[in-house]
Amino acid sequence: MAEIRVVVGSTYGNASLIADDCTEQLNQLGHRATLLNEPSYQQVAENPDVILICTATIGQGEIPANLQPLYDQLRQHQPDFSGVRFGLIALGDSSYESFAEGGKQMNELMHDLGARPVGQALFIDSCETPDADEVAAEWIERWSEKL
Ligand SMILES: Cc1cc2nc3c(=O)[nH]c(=O)nc-3n(C[C@H](O)[C@H](O)[C@H](O)COP(=O)(O)O)c2cc1C
Repeated sequence: MAEIRVVVGSTYGNASLIADDCTEQLNQLGHRATLLNEPSYQQVAENPDVILICTATIGQGEIPANLQPLYDQLRQHQPDFSGVRFGLIALGDSSYESFAEGGKQMNELMHDLGARPVGQALFIDSCETPDADEVAAEWIERWSEKL
């Protein structure tokens, strides 16, 4: 059983809905998952065990506004995440030049803080994946077994 903080980056609600489903699924699988739609530094940086980031990209390859303050504070304070494991679900659209760049920036940040990735990140391209929720659910099932 892992203690998981599900960190959302969403502008129009897609990533938020997927994160909500993932949180429910993880709890059903026996973990303790908490959904953070407006993730604050305190909620994320204090004694984390596992962090699951579920973020879209906005603008020209930018992190959604609800997640940007957390990104900035983590960059500023550089907490030691060497004891933290993380997973990433990145939503994007490959018709944009910077595909899923928000997720890629979060991925780089977690690596820079010393966090250890659990499995491969999931990239969901809305051009190719109409059933994003199903793809995410399958990924969560495999991911949760690695925790
Ligand atoms: C104004 C706008 C800008 C976007 N910019 C990008 C981008 O630069 N790169 C990318 O991969 N996707 C981009 N997208 C696609 C979104 O990331 C994708 O539609 C995602 O599912 C939206 O999730 P959300 O509803 O949680 O915000 C953009 C979408 C919009 C509407």
